[in-house]
Amino acid sequence: MTATLSAPVPDHVPPERVVDVDIYALPGQADDFHAAWKALQDGSPDIVWTPRNEGHWIALRGDVLAEVQAGHERFSNQVIVLPKSVGELHRLIPTTIDPPEHRPYRKLLNDGMALAKMRRLHDAIRAVAAELIEAVVPTGRCDFTGDFAQVLPIRIFMALVDLPMADSGRIRLWAESMTRPHPPMPFEEARAAFFAYLDPVLTARRAVPAEDLLSEVVTADMGGRRLSHEESLSLATQILIAGVDTVVNFLGFAMLFLARNPQARAELAGKDSNAVMAATHELFRRYGLVTIARIVRHDIDFHGVALKAGDMVCIPTQVHGLDERLNPDPMKVDFARRAARHSAFGSGVHMCPGQELARAEVAITIEEWLKRIPDFHLADDADARCSGGLVGQVNRVILEWQA
Ligand code: HEM
Repeated sequence: MTATLSAPVPDHVPPERVVDVDIYALPGQADDFHAAWKALQDGSPDIVWTPRNEGHWIALRGDVLAEVQAGHERFSNQVIVLPKSVGELHRLIPTTIDPPEHRPYRKLLNDGMALAKMRRLHDAIRAVAAELIEAVVPTGRCDFTGDFAQVLPIRIFMALVDLPMADSGRIRLWAESMTRPHPPMPFEEARAAFFAYLDPVLTARRAVPAEDLLSEVVTADMGGRRLSHEESLSLATQILIAGVDTVVNFLGFAMLFLARNPQARAELAGKDSNAVMAATHELFRRYGLVTIARIVRHDIDFHGVALKAGDMVCIPTQVHGLDERLNPDPMKVDFARRAARHSAFGSGVHMCPGQELARAEVAITIEEWLKRIPDFHLADDADARCSGGLVGQVNRVILEWQA
């Protein structure tokens, strides 16, 4: 992705719907990613147009977001990244495929990441979390972002796909290059690097399959055929991108919240796994972080505006949970909240297949952390500024406590 430059506003966009904002650099975003999105939601109509990033709509209310995500007959996944010219390069399976073609690929993912299989990872997640936390407990301080958030999900993930930890740095670099507005590497170069890396791995797994997720990808029965090599590369790349940057950054937002809220820490300390998991649901409502998009298939009237075939509609999933029309007092984290509505993991046919794993990683982190470090705060040299992108981010969460 490269931001931002203004494009001319097309004739079908009413002037009162135009808001000049860059979704990857909202005003006030550096101070608070979620407050910045909430301010845009509060001050705008339900769906607006921005001339930035080649010009696109932004859905700003929960019901509008839900309709766009569920309505694949009107809103296609063929382009899900903004700006559109970058999204057109994406072409990954299954995110850029619509039903009915999407279904068999999705079945493969659902089988590969079935609940029972993900639950079998809980002990491994707990062991890695405990090891990482115990290493820092006596020091009274840690760079949570570098020493924990960037390590735990990747260690679990590398085990899931059975790739060596030594390769995780490269994988993170390529994944970030495909999700950041100012990428360390150009998008297409990162995609090519992923493919080149996975090419021999997938060939070997096809020859000698094992129990890991990539072996499942290459051996899956797709209704009487196997995935072609090209399809396997695309699907495997998508899994690697989706599973790496998201959990890392969500953990940053979750721990920043706990560091700043002694009351919330006290509420969770000593609670059992079920209670911590319930609290984690509320954190996902409050701290959604994935900003994706859809492309309009045909000219339609939608929430008072005319959308034209080919228009892009941004879906900032974080604003869904922050909509007070659906969740009262939405900026408040309320662990007793019931039936919260959000789309942190998307909704509709593309809803995240990794959500069980993601939730487990976050809940187990909080549980194991509070067991050993019930009281902690943000260090003076932490960098709690946020950045935008396909995945929102807190720069560097440095924590301190009484050792
Ligand atoms: C905090 C963690 C996570 C968040 C917030 C998140 C969020 C999302 C969202 C919003 C989508 C929907 C995209 C769309 O509608 O176009 C999605 C899809 C997806 N996610 Fe996640 N995700 C997370 C973790 C994971 C993990 C750990 C994995 C894999 C191990 C994963 C794999 C995927 C895949 C493969 C898709 C594409 C599904 C499809 O197109 O059918 N995600 N995720």
